[in-house]
Amino acid sequence: MTSSTFSNKPVTTTKIVVLQQHPVVAHALSFIRDKDTTSAVFRTAMKQVGNVLLSRASEQIPLVPVTIQTPICETTAYQRDPNIPILVVPILRAGLVWADLSLEWLPEAHLYHLGLARNEETLQPISYYNKLPKTTTSKSFDYPPAHAFVIDPMLATGGSAIAAIEALKQRGVLEANITFICLIASPEGLKIVQDAFPALSIVAAAVDDCLNENGYIVPGLGDAGDRVFGTL
Ligand code: PRP
Ligand code: URA
Repeated sequence: MTSSTFSNKPVTTTKIVVLQQHPVVAHALSFIRDKDTTSAVFRTAMKQVGNVLLSRASEQIPLVPVTIQTPICETTAYQRDPNIPILVVPILRAGLVWADLSLEWLPEAHLYHLGLARNEETLQPISYYNKLPKTTTSKSFDYPPAHAFVIDPMLATGGSAIAAIEALKQRGVLEANITFICLIASPEGLKIVQDAFPALSIVAAAVDDCLNENGYIVPGLGDAGDRVFGTL
């Protein structure tokens, strides 16, 4: 494609993209789901899927034309707009698995950690750490419209995703500029999140069958945080 025909329009207008047909994703998922996979192999497979998810999610970021000089001639190229802040919000703990990878894809991004843990009885998220700026006057949000990527491998009941997205919206990030990146979503949680945020984009590796009575995704992978960090 030449620079004159370059288009940064999204490939699809669908707000959810599921990438389980991608051969790299399918292969990695087979190791990620297997209960006998070690944490070392689990993290490697998560990185492989994370690359595919981040590649797709980053298609949302607007570009601006720049004039550059190749060794041969002047030409037009495209870069991310330096005036548009990019926020990456990993939900602790499991979201940390893609934090460094996100910065490899988007080195200029601001990384804001958000610690949420599910109460295993009520299944409600409890916030225990929040490094998001307190107000919309924070420097990083001064230049609308910021783009935000919330990263968390699991979207189960949807409670943690909703808490994170609401926290970003309260700080002035537009819903349409937020992308939730996950590995596995449940159909139940997905519906709740999509109903709550119709303009949100979601990029997922798989949508599984259902939630079980303990709020775990079936077939799923078990507890993502424990599997990433070997704390089973
Ligand atoms: C997991 C997962 C999500 C959350 C999803 O975290 O990483 O954050 O559960 O569940 P939900 O959609 O029902 O809210 P968990 O609370 O187990 O914490 P951890 O990452 O520290 O293990
Ligand atoms: N959190 C997880 O880590 N796994 C699930 O299946 C549900 C919530």
